[in-house]
Amino acid sequence: MITGVIKDGQISIDFYPRILVLCTNLNCNTRCVYCDQLERVGNGNLKPGRDYLDNVSPLLDSANHITIIGGETFALSDDELDDIFGRIDQEKHISVTTNAIGLTADRYKRWVADGPIKSLHISLNTITAKEYRNGRSDKVLWAKDRIREIAALNQNHKIERIQCVINKIAIDMMVDIVELAAECRVKSVCLSHVSGYMMGKHDLGNENPFGAGYSDEIAKRILDNLAEAERVGKRLGVNVNGHTIRMRLSKVAESKRVGGEK
Ligand SMILES: C[S@@+](CC[C@H](N)C(=O)[O-])C[C@H]1O[C@@H](n2cnc3c(N)ncnc32)[C@H](O)[C@@H]1O
Ligand code: SF4
Repeated sequence: MITGVIKDGQISIDFYPRILVLCTNLNCNTRCVYCDQLERVGNGNLKPGRDYLDNVSPLLDSANHITIIGGETFALSDDELDDIFGRIDQEKHISVTTNAIGLTADRYKRWVADGPIKSLHISLNTITAKEYRNGRSDKVLWAKDRIREIAALNQNHKIERIQCVINKIAIDMMVDIVELAAECRVKSVCLSHVSGYMMGKHDLGNENPFGAGYSDEIAKRILDNLAEAERVGKRLGVNVNGHTIRMRLSKVAESKRVGGEK
């Protein structure tokens, strides 16, 4: 049982986890319109000090599975990545969730193909508020060329999942994402709802179909596209997970219904 938390920069616990999510840093190389991470930390220091890594090292030793998230891990420098990965036993199952912007072919070779990372989850839809306003729908699938490049380098490329947040700009791209996964031999696609308030904060709340931008017509279009993506996935051998979309849409629909009856 965990009996303590971080106090004065020290972790005090009497339990060591087998599965660990490590937040390496909170800085990023983009600013997705829906993401609140940068918002939450304000202008504070977005990178860990050495103390932080020294303090989590015992936890890294005990865990068998380590899932690394940022911010964006590949926004760190090569030296910083060496420092982090140098602290983890290379035999452990290390997975990294990334937008792939900083994951060049060289870096992929060093830390994934020939390195410690055993599994990659690549996020699409890294569109910023400004790009959204400028109608840059191409930014939703920006990472497709990088995914293709990685898939071409290696038969066993270690990309386990492609994931995408579905705001209005991405509603009609679900099947494309599944086809991209099949083309690149990626077995799993996760399509998720937009959570939080950030799109509204950027004055793009109406572009969030799970919030202010909800309508019954849009919800139907999303569910139809999701069902089609699942059909295509089944045919092409890609598992499509859209659970949170269905859950969230039924919740929003219910709240509109209840709100409307008042
Ligand atoms: C917080 S990011 C961190 C790792 C990395 N920077 C990335 O984007 O993959 C992890 C995942 O959360 C998703 N995400 C971030 N903010 C979200 C939000 N408000 N609603 C739904 N998904 C969100 C991202 O798209 C990404 O797939
Ligand atoms: S890439 Fe990840 S951390 Fe960076 S802004 Fe987008 S969701 Fe947030």
